[in-house]
Amino acid sequence: MTFVRAVELVAGGSGYPWDLPAVRALDGRLELHPKVTYLIGENGSGKSTLLEAIAVAAGMNPEGGSSQNRFATRDSHSDLSRGIRLIRGTKRPATDFFLRAESLYTVATYVDEAYAGEAGGPKAFGGKSLHEQSHGESFLAVVIERFGAEGLYVLDEPEAALSTQNCLTLLRRIHELVGLRSQFVIATHSPLVLAYPDAAILRCGDDGLEPVAYDDAEPVTLTRSFLDAPERFLRALMED
Ligand SMILES: Nc1ncnc2c1ncn2[C@@H]1O[C@H](COP(=O)(O)OP(=O)(O)O)[C@@H](O)[C@H]1O
Ligand SMILES: [Mg+2]
Repeated sequence: MTFVRAVELVAGGSGYPWDLPAVRALDGRLELHPKVTYLIGENGSGKSTLLEAIAVAAGMNPEGGSSQNRFATRDSHSDLSRGIRLIRGTKRPATDFFLRAESLYTVATYVDEAYAGEAGGPKAFGGKSLHEQSHGESFLAVVIERFGAEGLYVLDEPEAALSTQNCLTLLRRIHELVGLRSQFVIATHSPLVLAYPDAAILRCGDDGLEPVAYDDAEPVTLTRSFLDAPERFLRALMED
């Protein structure tokens, strides 16, 4: 379902984050897909900056968590969330969650504290402390146990926590949740995570944001050409 229809830039400035081409491109308004919108692009192209601004503008915590969570954060997020406007759909999401693999630890600590009184661990997260699970296990516990119907979910490089098999588990879960009218915005470098078919893929680059087809997306083309002929690829790569 479309909880956030589009993102519009309503302020400007110089330096970070305003100078990023992906941010300047919001001037022309960024339409989100009702099911899944992917952001791809090189390291440093602005994916996390954009995701974080969307999550924070939607009321979520910059380090991760839902809009129901409030925990002390380092003040490291950019001002961009105040410089954008979310064009909302007619319905509000029933729940939401911003999940970044890199700050899952902070979310786990918050969850442990918030649910400290619950016998047997935080039930909403599967009943086991996120700290007592591996990075990938705790990440999946959040997606499988905590995520639910009619949610707005913002994921930053989920593959950083997940095995190849569990990237596929994530895809399956995305499919279930989309069937339950949830909406996703996901930054990824993984050709597997990127594979949900009913989605828009936007490439962040020097020219701003542009839609690309799955088969033309760099995580896919590069991985494909590597796997087609690893020896040849490696020889070319390591030639001096
Ligand atoms: N807090 C910050 N202050 C200044 N520059 C930043 C900050 N965070 C990120 N940047 C810069 O903005 C650019 C985009 O970063 P980021 O959104 O994290 O990229 P991505 O997630 O696509 O790898 C990078 O060049 C990075 O160095
Ligand atoms: Mg990033």
